[in-house]
Amino acid sequence: MKPVIYVTRKIPDDLLEPYREYADFHMWEKEDTPVPRDVLLREAASADGVLCLLTESIDREFLDVAGNLKIVANMAVGYDNIDVQAAKERDIVVTNTPDVLTETTADLTFALLMATARGIVEATDYVREGRWKHWSPYLLAGSDVYGKKIGIVGMGRIGEAVARRAAGFHMPILYHNRSRKKTAEQELGATYLAFADLLKEADYVVSLVPLTNDTQKLFNKNAFEQMKDSAIFINASRGGTVDEEALHEALVNKQIRAAGLDVFDQEPISPDHPLAKLDNTVCLPHIGSASEETRSKMINLCLDNLTAVLKGDTPITPV
Ligand code: DGY
Repeated sequence: MKPVIYVTRKIPDDLLEPYREYADFHMWEKEDTPVPRDVLLREAASADGVLCLLTESIDREFLDVAGNLKIVANMAVGYDNIDVQAAKERDIVVTNTPDVLTETTADLTFALLMATARGIVEATDYVREGRWKHWSPYLLAGSDVYGKKIGIVGMGRIGEAVARRAAGFHMPILYHNRSRKKTAEQELGATYLAFADLLKEADYVVSLVPLTNDTQKLFNKNAFEQMKDSAIFINASRGGTVDEEALHEALVNKQIRAAGLDVFDQEPISPDHPLAKLDNTVCLPHIGSASEETRSKMINLCLDNLTAVLKGDTPITPV
């Protein structure tokens, strides 16, 4: 009998096809919405492997009903939706999708930085709404990017890829990380700073730090108070790293100039979310890795991890 893999969202059939010889796939395919919790728990009971998204909470309750489960393959590099410790206690392998999304997520992070700095979204609305009447010296004048200091908090793979893009814009690169990154220092001239010093120095503060107990609300009132009043804050990691009320206050009080946010504490946000209503904020619906090519690579990597483990081989990208 083939092992059973439960896939929590509809994925393209042509990606699944080559793997059908190794496993039987069950899938939540009714609509492009997260699988209801009761369905997920029911399916978990008979699954040998699960391909899940960050919309699924893989917690103790889930793991307790998943008696046959050998692997959870998360279609994301971040895995704060999974209780990794609880999985480990049950000898269940957890995998994520690093590397394949690095450059795509760095592209989006830099695009968000530039869009926020130069008011691209506001400018598009300006044209669409018929407000463009004449050229004017300070019309929609933004902040320079070229030559300004970028401060990257969380210098992992994506952080380094963002730093490479910043180097092309002749931006001095400051970073804060759990450990020093010698390659970034030698190849890009990146300078390590203590968190508080980075906040004071950087023109662009970019959060790429994973969400852990240590980074919960790392960007809080105190952090925003330390930033320059011309600073632009970019978050492309997880919303939980930010105290959103404090950010809102900092933006309203012009303690910082603007923010570009791809992630939020509770997703999705509604159009009524206080941050979505501000003129000096660009809000995106968590699309860091969303290119067609990369999303397919992420799915393939999940499937490769699943089949490897279910065949008794070692996973490619365990967390
Ligand atoms: C990740 O991979 O963690 C992203 O946030 C989802 O693409």
